[in-house]
Amino acid sequence: MKVLVATQKPFSAAAVKGIKDILTGAGHQVEVLENYAAQADFVAAVADVDAIIIRSDKVTEEVINAAPKLKIVVRAGAGYDNVDLEAASAARIVVMNTPGQNANAVAELALGMMIYMARTQFTPSTGSELQGKTVGIQAFGNVGRLVGQKAAALGMKVKAIDPFLPVEKIVEGGAEPVINLDELYSKSNYVSIHIPATPQTVKSIGYDLITKMPKGGVLVNTARKEVIDEAGLAKALEDRADLKYATDVAPDNLAELKEKFGARVFATPKKMGAQTAEANMNAGLAAANQIVDFFATGNTRFQVNKF
Ligand code: 3PG
Repeated sequence: MKVLVATQKPFSAAAVKGIKDILTGAGHQVEVLENYAAQADFVAAVADVDAIIIRSDKVTEEVINAAPKLKIVVRAGAGYDNVDLEAASAARIVVMNTPGQNANAVAELALGMMIYMARTQFTPSTGSELQGKTVGIQAFGNVGRLVGQKAAALGMKVKAIDPFLPVEKIVEGGAEPVINLDELYSKSNYVSIHIPATPQTVKSIGYDLITKMPKGGVLVNTARKEVIDEAGLAKALEDRADLKYATDVAPDNLAELKEKFGARVFATPKKMGAQTAEANMNAGLAAANQIVDFFATGNTRFQVNKF
C-alpha cells in the first residue's frame, strides 16, 4: 500500500525515519509531503495513496474526492476537527487518532505558560508563584489529567470538570470535581482548557465565563482557538484589567488583542504544544503502527468515525 505522510508542520527527522522504517518494514511504500505551501499541494499528492498520516493538516471533502484509493487517515495526535468526518464516512474511509501520544508535551506547555504568565513573561517585574494557587481544568482527558498531576506537584490546588467522565474518575485522577463551569471559572486563578472543537464547544468560552475568574485570573488555551468567543474574550479583557490570556492557538483577533492589551495576551507564533522530539516520535510511530495493523488485521481500535 502507498502511505502519504502529509505534515505542513513536519515531524522531527528521527520520527519521520521511524515512521518510514515501520511502514516499509511491513511492505508498504512511503511518500512524505512536508512544509507544503498550499492546500492544493496536499490535494495533488493524494491521487494514488491508500493511507495518509496527518497532523493538523486539513482533510477536506476535496482531499477525499481526490483520493479514490484512500482507505484510512490517521491523525497523529488527539484532535481530529481538521478531518471532514462526514465526507470520510461517506467514502467509507476509516479515520483514527492516536490518543494520549502527545499529551505530555501539551501538558508541559500548559504548565510552562502558567509559569510564563505568573513570572511576567520573564521580565524583571514582580511576578507571583503557582504554589498555593488553584488551577481549574476544563476537560479531564489525557492532557487535562497530566496538567492536574503536574500542577499538584507544584503545590497547586486542582479542580476539574468533564461532561464525559463520572466524578469518581476526576477524584481518582487527583482533582476536586466541580459542579459546573461557573464554579470552575469562579474558583480558579488559572483555567486550563482541554476541550475539543465540536459544534457544541465552538465559541463556548466567552465574556460571562471569563469574567467569573477571580482577580488576576489567567486563562490558558492549549486546545483550539475555535472554542473561544473572541469578541467576548476581548470585552472581558477590556472590562477586567487584571485578567490575562495565554494561548498556543492564536486567535483571529490577535493583532487587536495585542494592540489593546499588550503583554496581558500571549500567543505562541505557531502551535507548538505537541512539538517535542518525544511527542513526534510517540504520535508518529503510533500512527504508522496503526496503519500497519489496519492493513494486516483490520484493527480499527482508534477509529473515530462511523459508517
Ligand atoms: C493535537 O490535537 O494532537 C494537538 O493539537 C497537536 O497538533 P499538531 O500535531 O498539529 O501539533
